[in-house]
Amino acid sequence: MIKDSNTEHPYQIYNESCYQLPGIKNESIDAIITDPPYGIGFQAHEWDKALPDRQIWEDCHRVLKPGGYALVFSSIRLMHHLMLHLEDSGFRIKDVLMWVFLNGMPKSRDVGLDIDKELEVESTKIGTYNYVQGYKKGGADSYRTADHYTEAKKHRYKPASEEGKEYQGWGMGIKPCYEPIIMVQKPISNGVSVAQNMLKHGTGALNLEDTRLPYESGEEGKVGHNPHPKGRVTGNVLRTDPFEDGYDKFFLVPKVRQHADDFNHHPTKKPIKLMKHLVRLVTNENSLVLDPFTGSGSTGVACVRDRRIFIGFEQDAGYATIAEKRLSSTVQSLKEEQ
Ligand SMILES: C[S@@+](CC[C@H](N)C(=O)[O-])C[C@H]1O[C@@H](n2cnc3c(N)ncnc32)[C@H](O)[C@@H]1O
Repeated sequence: MIKDSNTEHPYQIYNESCYQLPGIKNESIDAIITDPPYGIGFQAHEWDKALPDRQIWEDCHRVLKPGGYALVFSSIRLMHHLMLHLEDSGFRIKDVLMWVFLNGMPKSRDVGLDIDKELEVESTKIGTYNYVQGYKKGGADSYRTADHYTEAKKHRYKPASEEGKEYQGWGMGIKPCYEPIIMVQKPISNGVSVAQNMLKHGTGALNLEDTRLPYESGEEGKVGHNPHPKGRVTGNVLRTDPFEDGYDKFFLVPKVRQHADDFNHHPTKKPIKLMKHLVRLVTNENSLVLDPFTGSGSTGVACVRDRRIFIGFEQDAGYATIAEKRLSSTVQSLKEEQ
């Protein structure tokens, strides 16, 4: 079990490195849900410069119960490395979920303008636009106070050289609309059935019952003779808009805007709605969930809200403090609701 877990205080955050998972016993964890560094140097953060050492996945394999699932966020660029690390550490790859969002920003610029620069030709000014440096707070329309953002008029340009004009509008990247979440499982021991494993450890299967997606009104009649009262089985694409044929249904969660909370400045915090869905998929009430890369504690908040027990490691003292604050206020609001 964890160092001192109980349902009165259903979480523990350790402000230390996760390597070796100190204090976590073998085969004591029901599920791992984590958002590790992607290794892409996001916003030049030191902790995102490289993928975690493979060691941590061996540690995770050690502490997970047989049949237990791990859901590991990744980047499109480096997920192939991470999948190999997971597989080489003893996990079985079960699926790759796509977290689809519509508010990703393409990392691109007009190559035509770059060509002008290369040729030392001045590009043509064609107008101005308002550039806001900073982040939206909470509601869709409000911005933080002046010390958190600056707004400036910027010039809009078009290429002036003949070569630049030829490549006007060409760029380096398309708009990112999803992040992969690698689903792996610690294999069940040879000769043990899923049912036997569930009876012994409470792990080995997915909680499809609690992650069904309710039908739109009137949609139920379209889905066959015996629709499940709770809706459709969740898919590996997480978005909710129905497709044109009205048949498929997914689960849509936009990215969190930076600085959406006053105190939470973690640059890669994940939406609680998404984390709750993932937590429910691989656990039951009172399951013990581990996040070795806790950040600001989004996995933990989702766990505690849904009455799971959470244990997290976060090496950065500032982020660990934010996570602690979010978790304790989640526990407090649960108490007030009772
Ligand atoms: C992508 S962020 C997690 C963000 C989190 N999902 C959230 O919603 O706030 C990854 C975190 O892992 C932490 N980290 C990196 N290496 C670590 C290590 N060896 N042990 C513990 N934490 C580590 C970083 O400080 C960073 O906060």
